[in-house]
Amino acid sequence: MKVLMVGKTGQLARFIQITQPDIELVCLGREQLDLSKPEHISDKLGSYSFDLLLNAAAYTAVDKAESESGLAHAVNADSPGEMAKVCAARGVPMIHYSTDYVFSGNASSPYVELDATGPNSVYGSSKLEGEQVVRKAHSKHFIFRTAWVYGEFGQNFFVTMRRLAAERDSLSIVSDQIGGPTYARAIANCSWQVIEKIRNDAEQPWGTYHLSCGGEVSWFEFAKALLSSSGYSDVKLVPLSTAEYPTPAKRPAYSVLDNSALNKNLGIRMPDWAQALETCIGYADAGASIDTK
Ligand SMILES: NC(=O)c1ccc[n+]([C@@H]2O[C@H](COP(=O)([O-])OP(=O)(O)OC[C@H]3O[C@@H](n4cnc5c(N)ncnc54)[C@H](OP(=O)(O)O)[C@@H]3O)[C@@H](O)[C@H]2O)c1
Repeated sequence: MKVLMVGKTGQLARFIQITQPDIELVCLGREQLDLSKPEHISDKLGSYSFDLLLNAAAYTAVDKAESESGLAHAVNADSPGEMAKVCAARGVPMIHYSTDYVFSGNASSPYVELDATGPNSVYGSSKLEGEQVVRKAHSKHFIFRTAWVYGEFGQNFFVTMRRLAAERDSLSIVSDQIGGPTYARAIANCSWQVIEKIRNDAEQPWGTYHLSCGGEVSWFEFAKALLSSSGYSDVKLVPLSTAEYPTPAKRPAYSVLDNSALNKNLGIRMPDWAQALETCIGYADAGASIDTK
């Protein structure tokens, strides 16, 4: 089986590469496939042979998207739609990722896949449109909605918090947004498990699934656990409200994803956020090397 991954340099793309099992993987970076030009996707993909397409690329600058709506929609919706058409024409499956930001965040219990969407931001609506066009173009798809993605490298909350903790005596962290922080390595491992399943059986319970670490926590409590397990218990953490930390894009206040369908239909269990966090700290402290192909 040959997997073609769109995306090479992003945090999830890098974890997909370092967790690669004995399955062929070819990665396309921006220089090979520019997702801001959906009109070129079909021609460009035409020159590659593959048995499964995995799209790990996206426009993820949530605040900047508010002023770059056209670009966000081209990368997050129009181009994935074109990829799905190519996959449908070839009869090969597609794996695509989406986000908790497709929801409004007004709920008070974890979102299931069929709950009503209602994004608050350009990024969220571009990702929602991406889901819709992929679903419409190709039935053999998995769309995995994930959330609050972090890892021991790349640009993310985990890396930023540990860097700032080494530099400062106190940090202010938003305490009224609740979610499910998800370790990119766990998403990558789950993705490979799904690919193995597809390799072994072409019939799969295709569709949209929530793929996040279990449990729920605020950014503040997550930072507290992260810094205390990283040896920075002496850094003072100050809770901040969303109102005190205004951003161009509105974030969902509560965006916990119920991932039980992933377990029920695909037999895959994601770790709880606290367990995944400890694993990530272990890799970070061991100075895990990055082997990006
Ligand atoms: N990060 C999160 O907290 C989060 C939360 C929920 C869902 N997700 C979803 O998870 C998936 C993976 O996200 P991530 O965190 O790995 O994102 P990321 O680290 O920001 O990486 C984005 C990737 O997309 C590529 N890309 C952006 N614009 C492109 C373009 N015009 N043409 C080609 N490539 C382009 C980037 O390439 P360059 O390096 O060349 O820019 C990069 O490889 C995405 O679908 C995202 O929406 C992420």
